[in-house]
Amino acid sequence: MILEPDHNSYLYFVSIITTVGGTAMVEGRSSDDSRAEDDSSEASMTKRRKIEHIEICLDEEVQCQRSTMFEDIEFVHNALPEIDKDRIDLNINFFGLRAAAPLVIAAMTGGHPSTKSINQKLASAAEELGLPIGVGSQRAAVEDPSLADTFTIVRETAPSVPVIANIGATHVSVAPDAVSMIDADILAVHLNPLQEAIQPEGDCNSEGALESIAAIVDSVEIPVIIKETGAGISGEVAKSLEEVGVIGIDVGGVGGTSWAGVEYFRAQKEDDDLKAKLGLEFWDWGIPTALSVVMVLDSTELDVIATGGIRNGLDIAKALALGATAAGIAHPLLRQAVHGSSLDLVVELERFLEGLRVAMYLTGSQKVEELSSKQLILSGKLVESLRSLGIDHQKVASGI
Ligand SMILES: Cc1cc2nc3c(=O)[nH]c(=O)nc-3n(C[C@H](O)[C@H](O)[C@H](O)COP(=O)(O)O)c2cc1C
Repeated sequence: MILEPDHNSYLYFVSIITTVGGTAMVEGRSSDDSRAEDDSSEASMTKRRKIEHIEICLDEEVQCQRSTMFEDIEFVHNALPEIDKDRIDLNINFFGLRAAAPLVIAAMTGGHPSTKSINQKLASAAEELGLPIGVGSQRAAVEDPSLADTFTIVRETAPSVPVIANIGATHVSVAPDAVSMIDADILAVHLNPLQEAIQPEGDCNSEGALESIAAIVDSVEIPVIIKETGAGISGEVAKSLEEVGVIGIDVGGVGGTSWAGVEYFRAQKEDDDLKAKLGLEFWDWGIPTALSVVMVLDSTELDVIATGGIRNGLDIAKALALGATAAGIAHPLLRQAVHGSSLDLVVELERFLEGLRVAMYLTGSQKVEELSSKQLILSGKLVESLRSLGIDHQKVASGI
């Protein structure tokens, strides 16, 4: 049963010191970093949590047991595509900016000295391939400028691609500084109530969050999008967000990394039995990514990014066929970002893009936007769920 971790091996894992290629990596924190972490201040706890999240994501099985529902979508094969695969055009308009492909490197990290090289490698791959890139939550670095370089490295390394800043819904006062810190093109506000509910030290007061988001939208001059982190966004929530002026939704749906799962391992480590039990109970809570994409598009005019369990190029193609503007990936890039090189990341990202090209070729789609009008075959739980929600699945299937 993969949900039962070996507690001792986890403790062993976090205590090892490894040095990769002469550079201290996540496991190889310097003695200065360790000293900073002895401090029990909130800022220090936030820093330590960021490292724990990376270590748990690398060492433990933290993927959802439920799927994205992309397996309930099939394309109709085109045996006569009448296009040249080598001339397929992956360029898209990404919130008014050009991106070389509909693939976003989703927000992961920054805010601890050890994370600078991770962000540098991710940004280098983004720049090489012309892909949009998000950074992890920046609040800690706005409050402690000594951490800012772990984020500014992204803009320095990726000067020509869309860069997405990241804060929480209640972090109104830090929004302008988070944007200027990395000269961001877009600001993502993350929503993670599931994670907070399972996190041993989580903050579960969400009162006034919509009002705070409206204030964030007013306080910055760039477009604001909302992103979930693995539990999805419903049509109704998306509609409320559209009304306060956000321009896009990254659905961050079920089917990929489970943040209830990640916090389960932290709760285990802290001997918090109640939170650990809740982590197991709510491991798969939320709206699967494919369903969330349809729900948001059905209820709003917002642009949608499909993140959460995107694991190959065919998943990206299916998300685009549903009407998403782009897809995002986080966990599949983490291992190379920590232990590999930016070249390894380019190779991995190219694998995704090649899968997308093949799906486009086999559906006769020369340009990305053509995917959204292709006939789809929908089945299984996706159809059942759409029926239950009163969404016309035949309309979704016919690409109208
Ligand atoms: C190690 C790690 C750290 C993350 N940190 C953040 C964060 O700080 N802010 C955020 O909005 N999302 C964060 N995420 C969530 C991802 O952006 C993404 O929404 C989620 O992991 C689902 O995508 P996946 O299934 O491809 O991992 C993080 C993900 C990972 C794996």
